[in-house]
Amino acid sequence: MSKKVSLAKAPKTPKADKFQTPRGVHDVLPDDHAYFTVIKKIIRHRARQAGFRRISTPIFESKNLFIRSVGGQTDLIEKELYTFQTKKDGEEFALKPEGTAGIVRSFIQHGMNQLPQPVELFYIEPFFRHDRPQKGRYRQFHQFGFEVIGESDPGIDAQIIQVAHFIHQDLGIASKLKLQINTIGCSKCREKFTNQLRDYFIGKERNLCANCVRRLEENPLRILDCKGEDCQILASNAPKFENVICDECKDHHKKVLELLDSVDIEYNENPQLVRGLDYYSRTVFEFWDESEGAQNSVGGGGRYDGLVEQLGGNSTAACGYAGGMERIIAHMKDFRILAPDKDQIDVFVAQLGFEAKKVALQLLTALREEGVHALGALGKASMKDQLGKADKFNVKYALILGEVEVREGKVILRDMASGVQEVIPIGKSVEKVIKKLGKKSLDKYDPSKDLKKDRTVRPEEELLIRD
Ligand code: HAM
Repeated sequence: MSKKVSLAKAPKTPKADKFQTPRGVHDVLPDDHAYFTVIKKIIRHRARQAGFRRISTPIFESKNLFIRSVGGQTDLIEKELYTFQTKKDGEEFALKPEGTAGIVRSFIQHGMNQLPQPVELFYIEPFFRHDRPQKGRYRQFHQFGFEVIGESDPGIDAQIIQVAHFIHQDLGIASKLKLQINTIGCSKCREKFTNQLRDYFIGKERNLCANCVRRLEENPLRILDCKGEDCQILASNAPKFENVICDECKDHHKKVLELLDSVDIEYNENPQLVRGLDYYSRTVFEFWDESEGAQNSVGGGGRYDGLVEQLGGNSTAACGYAGGMERIIAHMKDFRILAPDKDQIDVFVAQLGFEAKKVALQLLTALREEGVHALGALGKASMKDQLGKADKFNVKYALILGEVEVREGKVILRDMASGVQEVIPIGKSVEKVIKKLGKKSLDKYDPSKDLKKDRTVRPEEELLIRD
């Protein structure tokens, strides 16, 4: 005999879990997109002005690319890299924690050394670091960056710093930021200095934090920018880089500073600044909010003259910078800077009855084609609810249609601020609304002005993939 299952006693489906974003990552909601949009616009403008072209590299790349460039013993690689393996052949990949490595890989892969030098590239991309989440430190964040590959002149260092400074000025946050700058010399100066530092710190391990004891073995230079109080006291008496730096590196640094003076960019010479990525040589710099110091630097960069060769290319000098967009937004908000709201809806079309709905749809189409941001309630809401919605969207005008208006070829135009209404012919309503709004609030774009037919474009070149 088959067993009867009582439906009443059947186990209840567990209540679905409510999903949340993982720790340290965030949705970018529409209000914050207004900030991203204006920042991107300013970056694109400043980048194009200075001859940079945009590049995007993949979100994930070979894990070894990052180890070889950033350095296997840096925090970024040891603690913060998100890695995964393919199931089939166990190949190891990593989500990109920074942009320079991928761009140098791309420079070599696509033979960009054949292009007129230097090659100037910029990017605006998401990056991933398994940082401990806190203010200004996220696990997915956005950077914009500039890389100039193929020129060793100090003028490049100064120009990159100047572009970053202009962007901060455009965003209204420059007065809060101070450029910190240092030179860490070439590989030869660094080797000499590293040996001197090792000799100095050996025997003082008891006064160093655990991290710095490890750094003493791997990269004593990093002890200099440790935030630990005891480490800082010891570091203040450590051998000075100025005693080992070679004449060429000294001259390079002097010229970078003179060029910054010539374009009125203030800086603080900071001998403690070494940066946490291994690929740097000579110039290193960061922009700090002086109240927070190095903790939440808004951006940083420097020269990386050895990286192209280190990743398999020819010996090629290079310099770059990256800024953190979330940190910039935080500073803009501290300064009470409002990003322009391009999503403002100006007109609401309300309707009652099926015939009115048809006309409302036509009116919405005509308004939008003319560049008016217009919204309509095409559902079954009452007129009161529709006008309530228009109020919530803060629209300036509502066009109201019922069956009677449609029959008479009329529409009610309501000024939402004053509540004053007038009845006007449907055929004149779009023109009338545009006159009231003013031409400045129209959002018109004609893609055919940008997209032209050109016979020199061959079908295979339309593909973005170039293998
Ligand atoms: P970085 O100093 O590691 O440099 O990062 C640049 C900026 O990205 C930081 O100053 C900060 O604003 C932002 N940032 C870094 N980590 C986080 C995080 N966890 N959450 C939020 N924002 C963050 C580089 O990445 C180099 N690739 C810069 C460069 C380009 N050097 C030469 N070319």
